[in-house]
Amino acid sequence: MSREAPWDAVGDYVLTINGAARTVSGSWLGESLLYVLRERLGLPGAKNACEQGECGSCSVLIDGLVVCACCVLAVDAAGSEVVTVEGLTASGEAADIQAALVEAGGVQCGFCTPGFVVALHDLLGRRPDADELEVREALSGNLCRCTGYGRILEAVRAVQAGRTDAHH
Ligand code: FES
Ligand code: FES
Repeated sequence: MSREAPWDAVGDYVLTINGAARTVSGSWLGESLLYVLRERLGLPGAKNACEQGECGSCSVLIDGLVVCACCVLAVDAAGSEVVTVEGLTASGEAADIQAALVEAGGVQCGFCTPGFVVALHDLLGRRPDADELEVREALSGNLCRCTGYGRILEAVRAVQAGRTDAHH
């Protein structure tokens, strides 16, 4: 489906979400990836908080990069690999950062937490030894006024320590 389609066009396209091909049928081509994930594909993990690219609650990975799903047209993600918070591990079980956030008391509200998880899981994959500055930088697009981020940083350190132990 081409990007040149008129804005009121409706069409079908296929997205690859968490490794599975998902057909989106009869979709208005102006729909955001966030809307399609939540309302058409039954994946409510990415949250809709600001819908302006400001808060990071809707964070997903597209071809390995963290993006705000509210700012991406779903049809533009056709041909890319999309990973949502539901699909961070192949087994579908909670990622180690999720368990560590629970353990450290770093779970915030249901809006911001999925975005934190996606951003931190991505960072720990790319930069296993990330220092505090890097963690804070990685979270700079994830807004929460309710935390000082201390327990979140604690959870990151716990994951780093756990992964180091696992390699010894
Ligand atoms: S809902 Fe997408 S950045 Fe806030
Ligand atoms: S925005 Fe979720 S706890 Fe602050």
